[in-house]
Amino acid sequence: MSAQDVAPALAAGSCEDLVVDRMRWWDLDDVQELERQLFAADPWTAGQFWSELARVPESRWYVVARRGSRIVGYAGVFVVGPEADVQTVAVDLGERGRGTGRALLGALVDRVRARGATVVHLEVRADNAAAIGLYTALGFAADGRRRDYYGRGHDALLMSLRLPGGPGSTVAPGGGA
Ligand SMILES: CC(C)(COP(=O)(O)OP(=O)(O)OC[C@H]1O[C@@H](n2cnc3c(N)ncnc32)[C@H](O)[C@@H]1OP(=O)(O)O)[C@@H](O)C(=O)NCCC(=O)NCCS
Repeated sequence: MSAQDVAPALAAGSCEDLVVDRMRWWDLDDVQELERQLFAADPWTAGQFWSELARVPESRWYVVARRGSRIVGYAGVFVVGPEADVQTVAVDLGERGRGTGRALLGALVDRVRARGATVVHLEVRADNAAAIGLYTALGFAADGRRRDYYGRGHDALLMSLRLPGGPGSTVAPGGGA
């Protein structure tokens, strides 16, 4: 799957009607609505989303997943030189387990690869089994841990994905994510 510029990506199988496309400013109301539902304790503000989109395409890339006209997920990545960092991945509760997270993250990895970066990093709560499962399914491997990163007793797992051409890469060109 490729998410080059505005080219929509159709996922296979149960996701035939899922379209992954770059995020635009006019998507932000729907994205923020989801953000507030999914990250109620500490949602990104409108200012944070606008600030991220203002840095596209130089150092950021954001995508949304749609079923019909409804936004059901979104994701974003920070890319500078050979390094990238996943900023967010989120899927509507009622849409989980249908390949949406995989399609979103795959679109980000495609973009990172196209930019010539060779490694993608991220941090995730060590007790977030769904997210760790998603990242592992796409080839990310744990390579560190930050104790109490999310507050006392809530560690962050550091994970990374080496891309073809980079040191220690394990993903075949065109495969994996
Ligand atoms: C993490 C999240 C994005 C996954 O989205 P999703 O659309 O349900 O994921 P997918 O259906 O694409 O699943 C892809 C793979 O991830 C793994 N996975 C998904 N849900 C999982 C779960 N609950 N437990 C373990 N692995 C899981 C599986 O390997 C799955 O592949 P499979 O279906 O072939 O088995 C979603 O659960 C979410 O939005 N969580 C809340 C926000 C969040 O935690 N974001 C990450 C912050 S670091």
